[in-house]
Amino acid sequence: MSRKKIIAGNWKMNKTPSEAVALINELKPLVANDEVDVVFCVPAISIIPCIEAAKGSNINIGAENMYFEESGAFTGEIAPNMLTDVGVKYVVIGHSERREYFAETDITVNKKVKKAFEHGITPIICCGESLEQREQGVTIDFIRQQIKIAFLDITAEQAKTAVIAYEPIWAIGTGKVATTEQAQEVCAAIRVCIAEIYDQATADAIRIQYGGSVTAASAPELFTQPDIDGGLVGGASLKPEFGKIVNYK
Ligand code: 13P
Repeated sequence: MSRKKIIAGNWKMNKTPSEAVALINELKPLVANDEVDVVFCVPAISIIPCIEAAKGSNINIGAENMYFEESGAFTGEIAPNMLTDVGVKYVVIGHSERREYFAETDITVNKKVKKAFEHGITPIICCGESLEQREQGVTIDFIRQQIKIAFLDITAEQAKTAVIAYEPIWAIGTGKVATTEQAQEVCAAIRVCIAEIYDQATADAIRIQYGGSVTAASAPELFTQPDIDGGLVGGASLKPEFGKIVNYK
């Protein structure tokens, strides 16, 4: 089964809209590679100008978050149809920073995943263990629980198009990348979990990224593992280095 790689940048809370446009223009020629799906998930206020800047290129602009209701009295939130109206096709759901600082839970993640699919937006569903959990030897159990809840009431047809990002929390922004073996082991376990929930065809189709201190140096080995279908990249996606990550081969 050959899956198209998906290499996404998560810009987090970085860059003003005008800086974001400048960065898209700078990165555009460096990430011109149709063999992989290239996505930049950017702050909500920069989505529209970034889409304009990326026109005519292979760059997709995604969102970093979205609410699970259609509209209404939810001050500060972004509705799914606000994203689709401007052409957004990807949204990061349940990043560990949102779980830690904004009280997101497996249940809200599931609600958002359902809502994204209802609107035809591809969720990039984040999971990942803490250092404590890894040291306690419960990584796989914990990730399986996150995945099982995230996919409640999601059909196999929908799940096939989803993207999962495995991001060990201890590797995010720390410069401490998981070893290739650690990353492959968990991504393989996630695929087994999807096969158990659905079937092998769904497990073979779903794309699983690794995220956490990915650099141009670590990308080639990570992205050629059998169960790693690309990456979700924070810090290095804000730099020309991201071009090397996209062209990891
Ligand atoms: P870093 O690549 O900066 O470690 O961030 C990873 C991440 O959280 C991507 O979503």
